[in-house]
Amino acid sequence: MPPIWSARGSGRSCDVTEAVDIVEGLRAAGLVGEGDVTLEPLTGGVSCDVWKVDGPAGPIVVKRPLPQLRVAAEWLAPVERGTSEVRWLRRARGVDNRIVPEVLAELPGHAFAMRFLPGCPVWKDELTAGRVDVDFAAAVGRSIAAIHAATANSESDRQDFPNDAMFRALRVDPFFLHVAQKEPALAPALYALADDLIARKIALVHGDVSPKNILVSADGPVFLDAECAVFGDPAFDPAFCITHLLLKAVWLNDDRLTQAATALVETYRAGISWEAADEVMLRAGKLTAGLLLARVEGKSPAPYLTDPEHKRIVRDQASALILAPQPADQLVANWKRTYP
Ligand SMILES: Nc1ncnc2c1ncn2[C@@H]1O[C@H](COP(=O)(O)OP(=O)(O)OP(=O)(O)O)[C@@H](O)[C@H]1O
Ligand SMILES: [Mg+2]
Repeated sequence: MPPIWSARGSGRSCDVTEAVDIVEGLRAAGLVGEGDVTLEPLTGGVSCDVWKVDGPAGPIVVKRPLPQLRVAAEWLAPVERGTSEVRWLRRARGVDNRIVPEVLAELPGHAFAMRFLPGCPVWKDELTAGRVDVDFAAAVGRSIAAIHAATANSESDRQDFPNDAMFRALRVDPFFLHVAQKEPALAPALYALADDLIARKIALVHGDVSPKNILVSADGPVFLDAECAVFGDPAFDPAFCITHLLLKAVWLNDDRLTQAATALVETYRAGISWEAADEVMLRAGKLTAGLLLARVEGKSPAPYLTDPEHKRIVRDQASALILAPQPADQLVANWKRTYP
């Protein structure tokens, strides 16, 4: 009997052929029974189809990478990143099993199934609703540093995450080089930043530590969405996350978001064991400056930063910081949410 599937909810429906593949993969892994299988689209999904599926052993999440990202600009990405994400999830779970969902099966098309975590809101939604937990931000910094410390200078991790081309396509080009082309005065600094980021091979980087990719569980942060994982410069991860917090601090004019960024940087700094903390902090500060500008000028702008005054506050500070860098801890301490 052919597998039966259906799509429910307000999101996209799924392609019949590939969904059949997925359902067959789930059956082969023993994650769904022989009856009807319902794929319920979950929110998000710029780069992947993400569905919730109710199996006999409880709800699971199925994630399948898309060859073309759902953003305004054309943005292609190899689907192999799905397999790389699985590898990151397993590696990070080995560091601390509370900070990532358990992978249950790998499926056709570089898709995979993981355990669904019930009752865990996305951190971005919490922050946007005004529920800013500074201790939670501190836990985020601690967990990222723990993964970096566990993987620093590891030859096997370097070999398992040789994703330089993907990291360039999804991070370096759109965030740094695209902006450099538009901003001649900042271009030399941004090109140098990009070259340095590409060259450094230090630890396992998640590559997308954004509040929208962190679930708030009773045990602390749970990290999702490691499609951009690469063996590279660990400074990128705290920089990426504090960028989001600083942008939201301007958008919502809420000092607790700056405090959250401060807490994240402090705990991250305390966890740096593989090189001098000052050096990581300086690189993180430079990257944060570039990422802040990219979020107002780049290919992946922060969707909520539409007010021209908010954009100006970010653009001015980021441009100045690209030309005169500050370590991440100092940058956060000096960040202005408003102009007098
Ligand atoms: N294991 C899980 N448990 C509970 N919810 C999950 C789980 N995995 C994913 N989700 C939900 O699905 C959403 C999308 O997941 P994920 O970020 O991995 O996919 P994505 O397609 O890369 O999304 P985006 O491109 O929007 O970042 C998450 O924000 C979260 O709400
Ligand atoms: Mg995501």
